[in-house]
Amino acid sequence: MTDSLVLKGQTLSFKDDPFAVDPEEAVEFETDGAVWIEDGLVKELGPATDILSKAKGVQVIDYGDSLISAGFVDCHAHYPQLPIIASYGEQLLEWLERYTFPCESAFGDSNHARKAADFFLDEALKNGTTTAAVYATVHPQSADAFFEAADNRGLRMACGKVLMDRHAPDALLDTAQSGYEQSKQLLEKWHGTGRNVYAITPRFAPTSTPEQLEAAGALWREYPNALMQTHLSENTDEIAWVRDLFPDQPDYFGVYEAFGLTGPGAIFGHAIHLTDRERAALKETGSTIAHCPTSNMFIGSGLFDLAGLRGGANPIDVGLASDVAGGSSLSMFVTMRAAYEVAQLRGDNLHPAMLWYLATLGSAKAMRLDDRIGNLAPGREADLIVIDPGSTPLIERRVAQADNPCDMLFAQIILADDRAVRATYSGGACVWERN
Ligand code: GUN
Ligand code: ZN
Repeated sequence: MTDSLVLKGQTLSFKDDPFAVDPEEAVEFETDGAVWIEDGLVKELGPATDILSKAKGVQVIDYGDSLISAGFVDCHAHYPQLPIIASYGEQLLEWLERYTFPCESAFGDSNHARKAADFFLDEALKNGTTTAAVYATVHPQSADAFFEAADNRGLRMACGKVLMDRHAPDALLDTAQSGYEQSKQLLEKWHGTGRNVYAITPRFAPTSTPEQLEAAGALWREYPNALMQTHLSENTDEIAWVRDLFPDQPDYFGVYEAFGLTGPGAIFGHAIHLTDRERAALKETGSTIAHCPTSNMFIGSGLFDLAGLRGGANPIDVGLASDVAGGSSLSMFVTMRAAYEVAQLRGDNLHPAMLWYLATLGSAKAMRLDDRIGNLAPGREADLIVIDPGSTPLIERRVAQADNPCDMLFAQIILADDRAVRATYSGGACVWERN
């Protein structure tokens, strides 16, 4: 028996890349639209009258004037760090020492890790995030806990055990050998099991010896379909430290290149302070960037050059990310707003279609999952969200002034938060619903 369902509302989908063509042409709104879901996939999308005439006898859920979109994709987040969100007064390296490492030290306890993973995923779904690329801690059981929690909910999630064999408290260190073996075991257990994706996760160059980075590169060569995630050029003190630690490499990105940790499927968090050589090498290798605007402002790292990296003739794939808990919100609405504001501070504009693209299909592309998720389109997995266009009196009032769908979308991006999410679907099943 097939499992079939129609959702009625205003649909939002992408026909094209809004950074490559006129953004208004790239995005498609169907005011009286419907999405027909069958066996966990989008079967058809179009005007409600068309879909309903074909989907005879299929259950219909009418969401009125709510917006139906692909679920949000957060391409860089740290689930174990949620307890230390909004920690005061430090920049990256001190923030790691003072707040992050002590918090991550508790994740050797599987029960603790599972509770934290459940909490993170419940919060993500409530915010409309259906997929994320997530860092666990150095403890293999922290990655197991996350995958078990994601698997239980039927979500498409990527995660990896952090590799870290120096410059951190003893309780958070593995070795080049143990990190390789534990990652390999986790990868074989979880990658491609259900909807899980494994991400090989060296934390960042300063906390791995060259031997560990070498082992991470070797593992990725053995399993090229896995993802690789790490941090790059987030903070100027960090960059100076990398220069001291790897004096033979041309720059920070060059360290990852030297160990085979670049290319399609490699997601670099932040990438704020890049040299021209690094920009060219990111592009040439087909590596991707996770833009983390709330984090970059909250821990004072800098203003990411989205227009320079994603626009122009030689674009690099960029996705949008919360980077909790350097980031101050799990909401992709808040994250899109921050991306808009960062662009404004740099003298650039980001059209609402660009922002929505970054938070859905752009992130899916950075994770090499764009053929499966990130857009409302036939054949894609039915991970989607339903957004209430009037979730607060202020938004309702502002939306009443909007005379086109893009302006309405922009008002949501700037003013909305988790209260705008009415329902979240994953694999065609409703996994979160506002009462
Ligand atoms: N660089 C290395 N580790 C981290 C982390 O946990 N968060 C952020 N924002 N940057 C990092
Ligand atoms: Zn991070």
